[in-house]
Formats: sequence, structure tokens, C-alpha cells
Amino acid sequence: MKLLLASRNAHKAQELAALLPGVAFVLWPDTAPEIPEDGAFFQDNALQKATFAREWWKQHGGESVEGALADDSGLCVDALWGGPGVLSARFAPGLDYEAKNRKLLSMIGPEVSRRARFVCVLALAPMNGEAFTVDGAVEGVLAFEPKGDNGFGYDPIFMPEGLVQTFGELPTSIKHSLSHRGRAARCLATRLGL
Ligand code: IMP
Repeated sequence: MKLLLASRNAHKAQELAALLPGVAFVLWPDTAPEIPEDGAFFQDNALQKATFAREWWKQHGGESVEGALADDSGLCVDALWGGPGVLSARFAPGLDYEAKNRKLLSMIGPEVSRRARFVCVLALAPMNGEAFTVDGAVEGVLAFEPKGDNGFGYDPIFMPEGLVQTFGELPTSIKHSLSHRGRAARCLATRLGL
């Protein structure tokens, strides 16, 4: 199955390619416009991105694909009222992730809950059919300082429930078996009969 990936995030592309080996991905071209995402919820954004990409591809795309796939995801921290959440990619603009992670941790007081979860909604907009979503989440706690170089984004500060290592320290295969994106991707694979 060939799908257009409605994202310019190379880390997401890499993870989704590993998680969905039955799918050949066509990457969103550099010449294509920015994909809008202005919804209040992960699901709105995922559907908005997938349908935008599908419609653009119908008009401008070359290669034949069976649909457009979008990922909207983020880190939801209880002590930040669920933030940065859908705004995870836009949190502390201008800072690199090392600095973003330290800033986020500095916003959590010593006596509040460190509970957090990663959430991922995948939306698939078939070329000829109605778009749908699947989702996945992983519960965990925030580390006291960033640890590990694996993964991307907020991985160095997130420890999945029951483990004392961050996603930044754990091997990729363990992250995939537990992660929000891993869970959503396995739902999608089942739904597509892959
Ligand atoms: P989106 O492009 O609006 O979906 O933004 C997703 C953002 O959430 C990413 O840029 C990261 O900051 C964060 N994020 C999502 N998934 C992960 C993950 O698996 N590890 C670390 N950070 C993630």
C-alpha cells in the first residue's frame, strides 16, 4: 500500500515507516505548501492535515497513492493543565529541544504531580473515501532532568509508566512497543488489514 505522508517531520516519518512496514510512504514534497493545523484537539488537527494533503495531492500530485496519512501528537503534562499538548511543536519557539525540555521541566514545581502522557492521533484520508482516525497514548512521568539521546523532541524527559529510563534512553524497539505512535500505528495496521 502506498500512502502520502502529510508531514515534514523527519522523525515522525522515520518512526511511521518502521511501525508500518507494509506501507510505502511518499513524502510531502518541499515544493508543496505548509500543511495547516489550527484545531483545538489532536483529532481535529490530524483530520485537517490528512484531508488538506489529500486534496492538494489530487490537484498537484504525480504519483498515485491510496490516501494521505497525518500524525498529530504531543506531550500532555498534568501540572501544565494538559499542555503543551496540541501546541507541543510550538512550545518555546526559537529554542532547540535540549532547551525546550529544560524549560518545560523548570515550569513544574517540586510538589506537584509529574504525571504526563504522550498522545498520537493518526488520520487516514483515502483518495476515494471518508477520512478516519485511530489513536494511542502512553502514560508516564517526567524525569527530573533530560536523559538519553535516542528518539526526538520530548523523549529525553519522559519515562513511560513502570520504567525508570526515559524514551531517550530506551532502545527504539522498546519505545515502539510502548509509545503513543506505536499503539496508534498498530490500530491502523489492523484496520487496514496489514
Ligand atoms: P505536531 O506536528 O503538531 O503533531 O507536533 C508534534 C510534536 O509533539 C513534536 O514536534 C514533538 O515536539 C512532540 N512529540 C510528538 N511525538 C513525540 C515523540 O514520540 N517523542 C517526543 N516528542 C514527540
